[in-house]
Amino acid sequence: MNDIVLTGITTTGVPHLGNYVGAIKPSIEASRKTDVESFFLIADYHSLVKSKETEKITDSTLQIAASWLAVGLRSDSIFYRQSDIPEIMELNWILSCFTAKGLMNRAHAYKSRISENQDLDNKDIDKGINMGLYCYPILMAADILTFNANKIPVGKDQLQHIEMARDIANRFNHNYGEIFNIPEAIVGDTNAIIPGLDGRKMSKSYNNTIPIFIDEKDLKKIIMKIKTDSKEPGEPKDPSSSTLFSIFKSFSDKKAEEEYRKNLIDGISWGEAKNILFEHLNSHLKDYRKEYNKIIQDRSYIEKILMEGSVKAREFSVKNIKKIRSAIGIRSLS
Ligand code: TRP
Repeated sequence: MNDIVLTGITTTGVPHLGNYVGAIKPSIEASRKTDVESFFLIADYHSLVKSKETEKITDSTLQIAASWLAVGLRSDSIFYRQSDIPEIMELNWILSCFTAKGLMNRAHAYKSRISENQDLDNKDIDKGINMGLYCYPILMAADILTFNANKIPVGKDQLQHIEMARDIANRFNHNYGEIFNIPEAIVGDTNAIIPGLDGRKMSKSYNNTIPIFIDEKDLKKIIMKIKTDSKEPGEPKDPSSSTLFSIFKSFSDKKAEEEYRKNLIDGISWGEAKNILFEHLNSHLKDYRKEYNKIIQDRSYIEKILMEGSVKAREFSVKNIKKIRSAIGIRSLS
């Protein structure tokens, strides 16, 4: 059997360089291998857990779709919106009936909300928690199992969700035979985590990100804000503790990396080091930026691509759900 690679992207905001290095690039590389069927799912229903802002949900879908198209999805990848595949929602219910409540009690995202409530001495420890958040891992399992995907490129923070999907799939198979492949996480290289402006991991929640498609002037401005130590021009600088160096490295080959390292050790000023990083990043990102700006103008083009994607995706999901329904006894009487 060929591998079925599936990745989901939640629709929250425009992706940043950390997402690019940690998730976008590795999934695109995984999809370029021959003999794989690759699915890229825009997890728009997942976003409803967090956001109830109508326009934001639509805009974010547009931005995320344009981002993935701009960075070069292989044209035969199946790229679609979760909400266009009714079989995912159907399987979501079926899987709910095979998921122990206790399993969901252990989910990190849910547990951390509970402990926040405890820290705040809230009488109701479930305050502010909706069932969408609680059952988030089941919907994610449905995303994967609807397509019987077996390889799932994800960030480390998603490993528990993949474990849960395996658990749910195993329970189902235990009852009905080998219906589902047991999915496996593909975790990118751990070096693929880049620091943000303040040196902590680049993350939206720290507000320290560099967006991928930011225009040239703003890219320069934002790079000038990256934190450095107070070493003077002429003093040697330590590449291993430099945020500039870590970012540079993620976008270069060994030769360019060594050259930059040498410059720092030789004592170029932080200002110069930032200029070099800017030029370097800009040369990598400018084609993506151009493509993104072009694509995002054309909403009907994006809609068309997603609709074509959903037609292709449903060739798989409709077939699979039929088999699943029949296995559980939801089937024609005659
Ligand atoms: N929960 C994932 C995240 O936040 C996104 C996601 C949704 C996903 N459905 C998926 C990832 C299916 C892999 C497979 O990053």
